[in-house]
Amino acid sequence: MKHPAQPAAPDIAVKNSDGEKTLYIDGSQAMQEWEAPLMRRSAEVLCRDGGVFLECGLGFGLSAVAIAEQPNVKKHTVVEVYDEVIQDFKKSAPNLPDNLEVVHADFFEYIESIPTGTIDGIMLDPWLPKAMRDDAEWWDTLMREQITRVLAPGGHFMSFFVTEPTLEPRWEPYFDEILIERHAYDSYSTTSYLEGRPSGIAYLQRFTNRH
Ligand SMILES: C[S@@+](CC[C@H](N)C(=O)[O-])C[C@H]1O[C@@H](n2cnc3c(N)ncnc32)[C@H](O)[C@@H]1O
Repeated sequence: MKHPAQPAAPDIAVKNSDGEKTLYIDGSQAMQEWEAPLMRRSAEVLCRDGGVFLECGLGFGLSAVAIAEQPNVKKHTVVEVYDEVIQDFKKSAPNLPDNLEVVHADFFEYIESIPTGTIDGIMLDPWLPKAMRDDAEWWDTLMREQITRVLAPGGHFMSFFVTEPTLEPRWEPYFDEILIERHAYDSYSTTSYLEGRPSGIAYLQRFTNRH
């Protein structure tokens, strides 16, 4: 289910200035390091029951390493589509946990190879162009045919935090239990993806199917 709008070879840059670290993809801010506490907390919430985990999007590897380090995580596979992101991560984090595997692939293709009911938790945090973000039919197919298929009964799904106390409509219809945690955040003065809210409340949402 690779999306035709997935950029094949975008311009990737990591900029570190005044203690602020940002990943740019085609000139857009894709990740910033101030998100570290939210990423770590997401990992703690996602992995409470332990098991085998799968993640879309490496970025700085903050959530990937945090997931691998949670107690009773047997294996964590993080899938990243751009090799430059993987090389940059490996340079900045040479000693990775033994249970962490970094796979170079398009997550949306890779997930089709995962056997049914074998994953205890999924973290989905890719940076995607608008044509992909807005393709409701494609998300519906992904959620129905892949995400809910690979999850084991009682498995959990999490995605990026939201800054409004509303359920993310792309995930809500496919699960029967939702846990929400609120956390104060403080971004950088340069952050452009929070719609004018440099600080505020971030809502972490963990979606579960009981059966
Ligand atoms: C917001 S960052 C992830 C941040 C990460 N959670 C962390 O803690 O650092 C998004 C990442 O998704 C990757 N990405 C975009 N499309 C993808 C795809 N189809 N498959 C896998 N990774 C993808 C981007 O290259 C980028 O590294």
